Amino acid sequence: MFTDRTIVVAVTAGIAAYKSAILVRELKSEHADVHVIMTERAVEFITPLTLETLSQNPVAVRIFDKDNTWDMEHIALADHADILIVAPATANILGKAAHGIADDLVSTTILTMMSTIPVLMVPAMNTRMWENPVVQQNVKILQKTGVNFVGPTEGKLADGRIGVGRMAEINDILKAAHKLILK
Ligand SMILES: Cc1cc2nc3c(=O)[nH]c(=O)nc-3n(C[C@H](O)[C@H](O)[C@H](O)COP(=O)(O)O)c2cc1C
Repeated sequence: MFTDRTIVVAVTAGIAAYKSAILVRELKSEHADVHVIMTERAVEFITPLTLETLSQNPVAVRIFDKDNTWDMEHIALADHADILIVAPATANILGKAAHGIADDLVSTTILTMMSTIPVLMVPAMNTRMWENPVVQQNVKILQKTGVNFVGPTEGKLADGRIGVGRMAEINDILKAAHKLILK
């Protein structure tokens, strides 16, 4: 159970983004206070409305929205959130996080939270992207700075091929999060 725990779920633009809805639902059913943030491209894959309804909290996408309370909130959340889960994590967001790039809400939040709370990356991408040495190098950089990973696993991918790149199963994400915050 995640009773009294605050969990930030960052959704990026991978085909596995639809699975983040199930992750949010499961975190809620374990009584977590869940705050979802999304990249602008993730909105092409799953609607903020879905994640807002499941998390029972507003979903933030754009950093400069006038009616966005996240700007100040994300600094406050960095202080009191227990964990940041990036699911799915694209090759792009891994690259940005590994190199300190903060050019949107999700990457800025990762950079803010990386130094204060556990960050759990849940990568999902096709095998060619995952096995690209540049992506592997970014993963190593992040691991060295203390960022945690679960998956990707081997199995059937969105393009129909079998390979490594599938997003970790929801249960495995929950287990990893439990380990990190309920130590
Ligand atoms: C249909 C489609 C599926 C995609 N799936 C993935 C994916 O599973 N993993 C990934 O790393 N990138 C994937 N991409 C590429 C990302 O969407 C792209 O790199 C994007 O710029 C990432 O944006 P974000 O990291 O800001 O969310 C996909 C693109 C398209 C059009």
